[in-house]
Amino acid sequence: MSHPANAIGEKVLEVYKKENPSTYKIEEDHAAFEKLRIFADDLYTHSLKLLPRVFNGADLLEFGSGTGERSLAYLRWGAKCTFVDMNEEAIARARFLFEKFEPSAQYEFVRGELFNYRSERLYDITASCGVIHHTDDKAAAFAHQVSFLKPGGINILGIGSAAGSIQRNLQRHIIYTFAGRDEEAIQRVANDLFEEHLDRAEKLGGRARKAVIFDTYVNPRMDFVSVADIVSWHRQNGLKLFTSWPPVTPAVLADNLANRTDLRAFPEVLSNPEWLWATQKGDDSEFLAEMEIRVAPFNSAFRELADSINDVRAEQLNPTEILGEVERCRELADVRHDRTLRDIRGLGPWLDEVATVMQAIERKDYEGTRDAVLACKHLFRGRQGIGLNYFVGIKE
Ligand SMILES: C[S@@+](CC[C@H](N)C(=O)[O-])C[C@H]1O[C@@H](n2cnc3c(N)ncnc32)[C@H](O)[C@@H]1O
Repeated sequence: MSHPANAIGEKVLEVYKKENPSTYKIEEDHAAFEKLRIFADDLYTHSLKLLPRVFNGADLLEFGSGTGERSLAYLRWGAKCTFVDMNEEAIARARFLFEKFEPSAQYEFVRGELFNYRSERLYDITASCGVIHHTDDKAAAFAHQVSFLKPGGINILGIGSAAGSIQRNLQRHIIYTFAGRDEEAIQRVANDLFEEHLDRAEKLGGRARKAVIFDTYVNPRMDFVSVADIVSWHRQNGLKLFTSWPPVTPAVLADNLANRTDLRAFPEVLSNPEWLWATQKGDDSEFLAEMEIRVAPFNSAFRELADSINDVRAEQLNPTEILGEVERCRELADVRHDRTLRDIRGLGPWLDEVATVMQAIERKDYEGTRDAVLACKHLFRGRQGIGLNYFVGIKE
């Protein structure tokens, strides 16, 4: 079952067996079913530009299909699917849901560690969503996934980014500082400090509170990724980056998916690229080369901040290092060229709040941390970053 590249797999499975991370009661609640159906349409068709006909008749391999609620879309659009997951209980539920909602679909299940999956067969589409950041070697998992792709085939990767998950990682850091690995203590501290987040996740995300706590804080491996890593994985494995959500290509908006923003209400914002089109002198690559240099100091400092909090482990907490990275970002934030965007986003006060919270953690002061967390106006409020990013690549 286990694989040398993924010793952590057994521990991750233990947590999932206690509380499944991806169960949505879609068989009992039609609104929940519709919500996931609309999410799939918005995500794949409109954001990732993968129209249903792309899936029709395609051979699709998915790693970590879980309980299947989200994979139903692939079957609905006519893909012939092979689902690999290490959790037999998750597979049993997926089988029940597929029989209920897509009785004539074609699919098979393979129970096991994704690193152990072997096949002579190549696929039109390979996919994993919310899976490889729970392994010991996410780059190797990505390479293994895309090794089953035909030339011209499509790879779909849903993965947390270290930047988008910085607030969740910070929450983990705080919780481990005061609760260690003790599951009861983790639940107590999470409920005490992050009630708003849990209420929101329960209400809007449609999962049980305990499932959110186990998936976000008890899970021993959450090793997220940077866009720079994603770009190099695609290059190394012979894939062209096709689309992503939120978009990473320049001059486009970030997050129109979660709240189903109607972009038609913002014609002026959408017109932003027009001044770029009007002032075009040479190739985009020349402009990007200059931008690459200008944005590098802040972006690399911010990436280092995100990395220093990434994959938080109860056994190795280093608040001083994180605080140092926060200070570097605060200095660089003053000299970065696009001040307006930063000001609208409240990046300065957000970094101030991170620093205040980290100072209290460094002192191991629970009451002080609690006061700092509850006083935050930017940090730990609302959506708290982007939980999962999606990247689509095409095999050359
Ligand atoms: C967070 S759930 C995501 C489920 C589903 N893809 C979704 O988006 O709702 C992660 C799933 O990946 C599976 N998984 C994690 N690591 C795995 C591994 N190394 N090999 C096989 N399955 C794995 C888990 O058993 C779990 O069902």
